[in-house]
Amino acid sequence: MTEPDTWNPAQYGKFGAERARPFEDLLALIEPAPTGRPVERVVDLGCGTGALTARLHAHLGAATTVGIDSSAAMLEQARALETAGLRFELGDIAGFEAAHEFDVVCSNAALHWVPDHPGLLRRLRDALRPGGQLVVQVPANGDHPSHALAFEIAHEPPFRDALPDDQLGDQATPVLPPEAYATLLDELGFADQHVRLQVYGHHLASTAGVVEWTKGTTLTRYERGLSPELYGQFVDRYRGRLLEVLGDRSPYFYTFKRVLFRARLS
Ligand SMILES: C[S@@+](CC[C@H](N)C(=O)[O-])C[C@H]1O[C@@H](n2cnc3c(N)ncnc32)[C@H](O)[C@@H]1O
Repeated sequence: MTEPDTWNPAQYGKFGAERARPFEDLLALIEPAPTGRPVERVVDLGCGTGALTARLHAHLGAATTVGIDSSAAMLEQARALETAGLRFELGDIAGFEAAHEFDVVCSNAALHWVPDHPGLLRRLRDALRPGGQLVVQVPANGDHPSHALAFEIAHEPPFRDALPDDQLGDQATPVLPPEAYATLLDELGFADQHVRLQVYGHHLASTAGVVEWTKGTTLTRYERGLSPELYGQFVDRYRGRLLEVLGDRSPYFYTFKRVLFRARLS
């Protein structure tokens, strides 16, 4: 049975400006091509609605950029942005492999959905041409109540019994500490690297805004695994606990940690 596609471009887009900030920081990390060589091929893994892929394509002046995503709903929006050099494909990052094809392999806010980052980074390294760059941003906010409470509630009845094991969320998130990425990149033979943890602060209208935020991302996992009725109960319970723990504040300052890194092959 195919899983329902619970990604919703409109819900995700509610915080488009906030979510674009780390992407702009990621773009700023990409180094100009050495010796003026033009950027020929770029891939954006987990491209979503494609707006940021188009931004990446233009920023790099790339000859061809392909955005890959597993959500048909997100890709439907992306396809409207296609041009001769920019295209979008349905695909799973977990199965992505290429042999020294790309000048830039980019992924913004998507690799946290894919397990085994050491194995994944090895495959992404292999997809790069000599001198190519890997640029990644992953959320690292699992210890914030916005994420920790969703995990906690998923393990309470009646949700625990209804959710398949692989949709319980995973406290052992695949996202590694920044220093582990630095070590891995070095072991994988990247000649130079920049790795950092950055805290983004978002002024939301109220604490309840956090629920709207996570409904567009983290909660899609639970929406996929639960009936619409149970998912409704899940969101109600989550909202209640969140307001209890964070306080019902207007405005609410939402802190969001992210790991950003860029590394170049020699
Ligand atoms: C938080 S959105 C980020 C979208 C885009 N990169 C951006 O920054 O606007 C995460 C995207 O990753 C995609 N995704 C999640 N798991 C994936 C997988 N295993 N393979 C491909 N895409 C995946 C989702 O469909 C979603 O569009």
